[in-house]
Amino acid sequence: NPVPVITIDGPSGSGKGTVTQMLARRLGWHLLDSGALYRLTALAAVRQGVSFDDHAGLVQVAASLDVRFEPTPAGEPVRVVLSGEDVTREIRTEAAGDNASKVAVVPAVREALLQRQRDFRQAPGLVADGRDMGTVIFPDAPTKIFLTASAEERAERRYRQLKEAGHDVKIDALLDEIRARDDRDMNRSAAPLKPADDAQVIDSTGLSIEEVLEKVMAASGQA
Ligand code: C5P
Repeated sequence: NPVPVITIDGPSGSGKGTVTQMLARRLGWHLLDSGALYRLTALAAVRQGVSFDDHAGLVQVAASLDVRFEPTPAGEPVRVVLSGEDVTREIRTEAAGDNASKVAVVPAVREALLQRQRDFRQAPGLVADGRDMGTVIFPDAPTKIFLTASAEERAERRYRQLKEAGHDVKIDALLDEIRARDDRDMNRSAAPLKPADDAQVIDSTGLSIEEVLEKVMAASGQA
């Protein structure tokens, strides 16, 4: 596939969501927030009364997701519309992230979302954010980044993000949740969170988002 892709994988709170949005905007490329698809699958399952143990049901939900990602002004998160309803805020809670990681362990759910993700690869290019973008979804991507940061710093960032968005959260609880989610993401058998062999690892601990963006641009030859 000649359409270029920059994959940005890493644990939650590593800054990859923000960096992906800034990079896509700067390059004028498309954006894939793959985590949103898992968050939406979990949310739709809850709404339809499908249990997370019902794998066939989850596959059905994933395959029939009616979702639109709508552009927003610079600096604002992409608007996520599920079956006609704006769920942008709802899918960003820690509970939604935790539920996402529970449906994401099911191989058939990942399979059901595979082609939908690959379809985002359209000219002039794609910046894709997730856990398995470089390892499974776009193994031929010319540029693969793995973005990390210490768990403490990631908890701190999530805390500030959620506070700003008006959510009431506690930092200790966030740190516990981040560790539990990392653990689930790294230790599952289907597409576990890990850098691709040919990924460039960037540690964002102590860096500002602008500094991370510069490093990612340099690593992708776009600086
Ligand atoms: O990136 P985000 O925090 O939105 O992802 C939510 C959850 O979805 C992750 O914790 C992970 O379990 C799952 N996920 C995944 N593969 C991806 C993206 C997200 O398994 N490519």
